[in-house]
Amino acid sequence: MRPGTISRRRFLAAGAATAAACAAPGLGWALPSSALALTVRLDQEIGLVRPEFHGQFAENLGACVYGGLWVGPQSKIPNVDGYRALAMRYLSELGIPVLRWPGGCFADTYNWRDGIGPRAERPKTVNIAWGDVIDDNSFGTDEFIGLCRRIGAQPYLAGNVGTGTPEELRDWMEYCNFPAGSTLAELRAKNGSPAPFRVRYWGVGNESWGCGGNMTPKEYALKYRQFATFLRPMGGVNPYLIASGPNGNDGYWMRGLMDGLQWMRPSGVSMHYYEGGADAPAEFTAAAMDRQLAIFAKVEAAIRQQRAILDGYPRGDRVGLVLDEWGVWDRLSRAQQKRYGMLYQPATMRSGVAAGLGLNMFNRQAHRLRLCAIAQIVNVLQSLLVTDGPDGERCVRTTTYYAFQLFKPHRGNTAVRVTPEQAVPLGLSASASRRGRALVVSLVNPQDREPMRVRLAIAGAAASSASGQALHDADRNAGNTFDHPLRVVPRALPVRLRRGELELDLPPLTVATLHVELS
Ligand code: AHR
Repeated sequence: MRPGTISRRRFLAAGAATAAACAAPGLGWALPSSALALTVRLDQEIGLVRPEFHGQFAENLGACVYGGLWVGPQSKIPNVDGYRALAMRYLSELGIPVLRWPGGCFADTYNWRDGIGPRAERPKTVNIAWGDVIDDNSFGTDEFIGLCRRIGAQPYLAGNVGTGTPEELRDWMEYCNFPAGSTLAELRAKNGSPAPFRVRYWGVGNESWGCGGNMTPKEYALKYRQFATFLRPMGGVNPYLIASGPNGNDGYWMRGLMDGLQWMRPSGVSMHYYEGGADAPAEFTAAAMDRQLAIFAKVEAAIRQQRAILDGYPRGDRVGLVLDEWGVWDRLSRAQQKRYGMLYQPATMRSGVAAGLGLNMFNRQAHRLRLCAIAQIVNVLQSLLVTDGPDGERCVRTTTYYAFQLFKPHRGNTAVRVTPEQAVPLGLSASASRRGRALVVSLVNPQDREPMRVRLAIAGAAASSASGQALHDADRNAGNTFDHPLRVVPRALPVRLRRGELELDLPPLTVATLHVELS
């Protein structure tokens, strides 16, 4: 058997319906003859689906910020005060709960003072994290806050621990949050913002085990204690300090960090977990896709295990687990990166399915998570939007964008358990959340060829009406391109309602959301 694929026996064990009983002419796949039975347990609440689970990440990297979000007021590309107009429209329509910036690896080389004041006077610095490109610093703190306000996002600033000092980070907080009267608050006012920015989320370093300084957990914990001592509540904002946590499911780092912190407790600890892929973004074989999508089961195990480590420490249960970098990271093409910017990665139906698997997992793990941010918002890795190069006008919403759109109705709801829970990585993935009489159910069929028929019961209520929407393309390598920007978009999915239960068919490679009214 090819590595990463599942056998027919395991597939059936997952409860997936058998195929081929009744052919569906013209659909390209066969309707299953038996259904997979799921039950939504309204009495088994998991926790709040925090809007922050749908957070995003923007880094000074490739064409994410420069040429992506920010084109500058003099650009030929339609813009509003320098922000790419189409990107602003699409992102506002989706609603971005929280946005992390300026990195990533870039954060640990960034001096915030380079990015304030008159743009023409800002220094030109070398981005040593990403290709030694010149950063003219025209996008700095004030521009980032302006962006967050335009798209409705809470700002999350990642502070520099690698090459920065506690004083520098403390000053950045004062510039952002001190109401008035201090030199830095006056400087902010002079730069156009008399009212404080009230930034709540602050990262204290990024990947300090790697690009953020190659520290041991003990060394980093000492740095964290020094930096955090001076990051005090200011201007009525109690900062949510996020320590640099493990790479994937690295218990050695998490324990070393918690031991080294001694009595101190950060508000959150950040974990990064990418789903690597062996193939080029639009050339995935079925086997390579299976291997990549199967990683989500490992991420879910990591969330459980890292949470358990935290919970094992005194007051550890109050420390939020923050997955602030996740997403598919495929084999990137040199030519495309040259044309569209570093880490440029086109999106396909496979990436949309990956987004659905991740977002379902966050609902199921709602009680263990505090904030998540996919990497990255525009033009880099698993992005919501792609543009045709930093100088191109066209801006396309990716399959990932539409997967987030399908999950948006979960935000602010209470997640409830769906049983039986997914038995194998590539089985049907499900999650549900409820607010009053409105139930939202999301289902993902990650199979490349096998359709799934799903029968859904609701323990504790009956459905009085239901409708569905699905993102689907039979071709795992198809996506929205500059020539066909709306090839893969959510479309109506038929849902049959019988005696308070639901039945529906999920084609292979489908992300679906059902809206159910409970009687
Ligand atoms: O998202 C790209 C990079 O991946 C980030 O800069 C870094 O934190 C991670 O290794």
